[in-house]
Amino acid sequence: MNVIKQEYPLVVAHRGASGITPENTLAAFKRAAAQGADMIELDVRMTKDFHVVVHHDQTIRRTTGGRGAIWDLTLQQIRNLDAGRWFHSRFSGQQIPTLRQALEAIPSHMGVNIEVKTDGDSRKKLAFEEVTILIIMEKRCVDRVLVSSFDHSFIARVKKLFPEIRTGSLSHPIRDRRRKPSTLARKLKTDAFICDRAFLTADFVADAHARNLLVGSYVINTKAELETAVSLGVDAIVTDFPGRIVPALRRMGIRNPKPKQSGE
Ligand code: G3P
Ligand code: MG
Repeated sequence: MNVIKQEYPLVVAHRGASGITPENTLAAFKRAAAQGADMIELDVRMTKDFHVVVHHDQTIRRTTGGRGAIWDLTLQQIRNLDAGRWFHSRFSGQQIPTLRQALEAIPSHMGVNIEVKTDGDSRKKLAFEEVTILIIMEKRCVDRVLVSSFDHSFIARVKKLFPEIRTGSLSHPIRDRRRKPSTLARKLKTDAFICDRAFLTADFVADAHARNLLVGSYVINTKAELETAVSLGVDAIVTDFPGRIVPALRRMGIRNPKPKQSGE
């Protein structure tokens, strides 16, 4: 199965259904699945003791109220944190998941965009690429993942180590502003180009499609943003609200209607 190349545009739940559930938690992934998203985007970082955990920020302050950076905390310390209560008391008890737990929990018909975050972590030569690949292989998820990062040396190394894994270059709004998708793809051997919606142009989409690259754009939460993305020919809509975007695409007639459930 290849969940990356299915019906377009794909709806990618940004940190799960993060508009209505605490980001990057199993609750957020479950809700996105129930709302009909095709793929989950999640962020990963490496702990002090070299476990890969799902967390966006460098520190745990915003999502747990605790102190410290992910790379200064052990998995055990991270497991003791509550990553749901900050969002709403009814999510109390949600943890920061490991990448393994996330891959186990996300339904197998869905894709997973693993966005690797290395910013702020001054440790080098951690074998982060190798560890990530091994987890993907162990969980038999090679066909359904896309490994993306703003750290372009990371994705180049993943592709070098394991060419079967699909990779995506995240275009940095400042650093990569003028770099065409095809230029990045030639250099990094990527399969996808992902860009902030503010910087996506018709020329970039045409350039990417000429090279057979999947184009993703983030974060698309409103009807106007969706219409612009669709008119540009974006292949993957990265949104905090899959529950809005899936029905909106259906209303636009560019997604199959919801299959009828028995008794519906
Ligand atoms: O995958 C696109 C998007 O997630 C990149 O930005 O900061 O939300 O991880 P950020
Ligand atoms: Mg991200």
